[in-house]
Amino acid sequence: MDEQRLLALVDRMTPEEKIAQLQQLIGAFYEGFHDVELLTGPMEELGISQEVVRASGSALNLSGAETITRVQQAYLENNRLGIPLLFMADVVHGFKTIFPIPLAMGCSWNLELAEESARVAARESAVSGLHVTFAPMVDLVRDPRWGRVMESTGEDPYLNALFARAMVRGYQGSDLKGDTERLAACVKHFAAYGAPEGGREYNTVDMSERNLREYYLPAYRAAVDEGAALVMASFNTVDGIPASGNEKLMRGLLRGEWGFDGVLISDWASVRELVAHGAAEDDREAALRAIRAGLDIEMMTPCYVHHLPELIEQGAVDPKWIDEAVLRILKLKDKLGLFEKPLRGADPAREKELLLSPEHRRAAYELAVESCVLLKNEGGVLPLAPEAKVALIGPYAESDDILGWWSCNGERKDAQPLGAALAERLGAGRLTAVPCGLDRVTAAELDAALAAARSADTVVLALGEASEMSGEGAARTDIRLPAAQLELVRRVKELGKPMAAVLFNGRPLDLSGLYEEADAVLEAWFPGTEGGAAVADLLVGRRNPSGRLTMSFPRAVGQIPVHYNQFSTGRPFQPGREGDRYVSKYLDCPNDPLLPFGFGLSYTDFRYGEPVLGSDRISRDEPLRVSVEVANTGRRAGVETVQLYIRDVAGEVVRPLRELKAYVRLALEPGETGKAEFLLTEEQLRYHHSDLSFASDPGAFRLYVGGNSRDTREAAFTLVGQASAF
Ligand code: BGC
Repeated sequence: MDEQRLLALVDRMTPEEKIAQLQQLIGAFYEGFHDVELLTGPMEELGISQEVVRASGSALNLSGAETITRVQQAYLENNRLGIPLLFMADVVHGFKTIFPIPLAMGCSWNLELAEESARVAARESAVSGLHVTFAPMVDLVRDPRWGRVMESTGEDPYLNALFARAMVRGYQGSDLKGDTERLAACVKHFAAYGAPEGGREYNTVDMSERNLREYYLPAYRAAVDEGAALVMASFNTVDGIPASGNEKLMRGLLRGEWGFDGVLISDWASVRELVAHGAAEDDREAALRAIRAGLDIEMMTPCYVHHLPELIEQGAVDPKWIDEAVLRILKLKDKLGLFEKPLRGADPAREKELLLSPEHRRAAYELAVESCVLLKNEGGVLPLAPEAKVALIGPYAESDDILGWWSCNGERKDAQPLGAALAERLGAGRLTAVPCGLDRVTAAELDAALAAARSADTVVLALGEASEMSGEGAARTDIRLPAAQLELVRRVKELGKPMAAVLFNGRPLDLSGLYEEADAVLEAWFPGTEGGAAVADLLVGRRNPSGRLTMSFPRAVGQIPVHYNQFSTGRPFQPGREGDRYVSKYLDCPNDPLLPFGFGLSYTDFRYGEPVLGSDRISRDEPLRVSVEVANTGRRAGVETVQLYIRDVAGEVVRPLRELKAYVRLALEPGETGKAEFLLTEEQLRYHHSDLSFASDPGAFRLYVGGNSRDTREAAFTLVGQASAF
């Protein structure tokens, strides 16, 4: 439909019909359409009438081709103007075929596989009737106490932006109308939800606008520039005003400055929560603030439907705002082709054929392999020796809790636990698996574990957090492994056997009590449906680990936030001068993290040459060529992620000690030398100045190239040209 026809449709709608388009409700409301019992339940609590349900614009978290077909058909029978219902859901890391959690996916540094994961997720969801996914979540994160770090790709604005784009492309493709096996993407949570004070869920976010623009906004911006059809407002405050009622943020920055003309949706109940925040006296004022801020859809609370009519009548709300919001929602429905095909991709036969198809499982397997990060490997414990007898011990030895939070439609029964996958690979008699509790190891479990360890050549501990220990509402102040698991580590260690650990968890952990004790540590995160097979293949050496951390692992909670792109101070700590008192340091802990951003080992070794610069100068017209030779000096083929960082030595505003600017993944055979080549432009040296202008500072720069953000080779160059504004 062209815009004129959509406008004409808006004209024909009654005020009630328009406002109902702005209401989003959970699927249960529609499922029970003819079910009077249900209608007297939650609907009554929310004070939502049957008329509003019948006319509401969108539903969330309902899926299944048959269900959605039934609900859509019933809905349309009652809809005077034939405006179809939109179905949205959280398809965050896969629909039925579950991919590794986003934090793990980030560690692959593999944008093609990430895009493919979104394409697969879109396909499965679209044939199951969905239209919109509440993804990608692109919040930058620096605090592993926060449970939702598992949904993010990590602490770096540049890498997060690349993943944001890849995910939007994967979900949406290039033609939402023609390709009904894609989904519209809703980037979230706008803005800076990933910076809650103390890592406590839903807590205050307060930062300078410069900090916000420099680090937190780039990934949302990238998703919007890539064409994300929706944006979700976050729960938190931004500069004192909750995002859902933040006019400067939404009408000003998102729509005005960035030109976003898609649909803006609240988070769950976040309009009404303006009251709890202390930013509105009541639902009426909450509705006023949210609509004035430019929020189109209210998820799960009824402030709009209850109060917009009176607010319009009183002249507090311009009816034009409502018309604009409705038009945006109708445009989204049109963009998805719903006016012509209200059932869109929903197709029970396709659903049967595609969900968990071998092709989809293969994609999930590949990403799971590439997401795992080898954190330590001493004495060549991994890969497991071909003839070794292995004891697999711990809560994850046979657990299928490997999908991770936000795998709403995924089913654990479809995931093969590590123990079964490893048994297949090691062959009969070589594996003894001894599972135990996650928070409590009974005396019998401990005895069995120690007996198995004694008669094995190598012990593999399968440890971690339960999936519900990360995700929404799962902040923790102590991010060590549960005490019972650390005790298990200690007892097994006493046996003196080679000991490797595999970790299943949704956040960087404080690895005290494990990292020093184990000879090898493989971080598997929550690897998804094919995680068991992927981890087993890595353990036996059929595949070679290549993942790199995208979030630093702290030495202790007291260091948090600890991230690679920190600033210097006026009194920086000098390594080797621990005795200096009046420097920026802790008395009881080093400044640097245990494992830095970009870190990850391989079963082979890589040797770096010196970075070669095409010039010692860069200017607006002349980019800088940088190359580095990397040799695979080990005995296995492997992938090295060659990372390029810069430091702006002196800026108007102080700059991070290192900033990732580019990377190349090199696949190298044993003995092979490859060359990573980069082209650095002046534009990549720009940043937000104190007046918020985005410009570069002529002068000295350092450049670092290496396999992680800490162990690098260095060079220098100068940016020549006009000084910028300051
Ligand atoms: C979460 C969102 C999610 C929404 C809908 C909220 O609690 O913060 O990320 O999209 O629920 O399920």
